[in-house]
Amino acid sequence: MLHVIQHPLLQHKLTLLRDKATSHALFRQTLREIAMLLTYEVTKDLELGLREVETPMETGRFPWLEGRRVCFVSILRAGNGLLEGMLDLVPDARVGHIGLYRDHATLKPVEYYLKLPEAMGERDIIMVDPMLATGNSAIAAATRLKEAGARRLKFMCLLAAPEGVRAFKAAHPDVSIYTAALDRQLNEKGYILPGLGDAGDRIYGTA
Ligand code: URA
Repeated sequence: MLHVIQHPLLQHKLTLLRDKATSHALFRQTLREIAMLLTYEVTKDLELGLREVETPMETGRFPWLEGRRVCFVSILRAGNGLLEGMLDLVPDARVGHIGLYRDHATLKPVEYYLKLPEAMGERDIIMVDPMLATGNSAIAAATRLKEAGARRLKFMCLLAAPEGVRAFKAAHPDVSIYTAALDRQLNEKGYILPGLGDAGDRIYGTA
């Protein structure tokens, strides 16, 4: 299922990210804020437990999110631009990282780094990458996470291209996609149009 989150604050901040005149510092800060708004939506159906608390008046049992059961997985390197905002909201979440590069001969993603918390099958997992372009990295990452035991898995991104959404849905129909916008198309180099350029370069100033 594809969820396009229309919140006015999110849409406003996304426009700021699209502007090529936005500085790297403002891009990073705004992406962190957007990550919080996206996370608010993606975590809407997380299960709550109860925690006993003594208020100044009496003792009771109240809703409590066991943050350690949540796992965020960043697809390197641009996923890290969203991670900080997610951790601002769920500071106890566990964090995994997956690094993939594209082999120029085969155009297939190759894994170069993987570090995940244990017991992935017992966690609510949110995989993140700002751009769902061809979908190749997200598909490979979701496949790898399922091999590691992931059962409850969602994918959160900032921008998606129709080509990437189609490919991802075909490969992982059970993994919901959350995005702030569905853009028009990919160009011949696999960049999203109108998009915002290379997310990693905009975050880290490497262009
Ligand atoms: N990755 C990016 O950073 N930007 C795009 O437009 C597509 C993939």
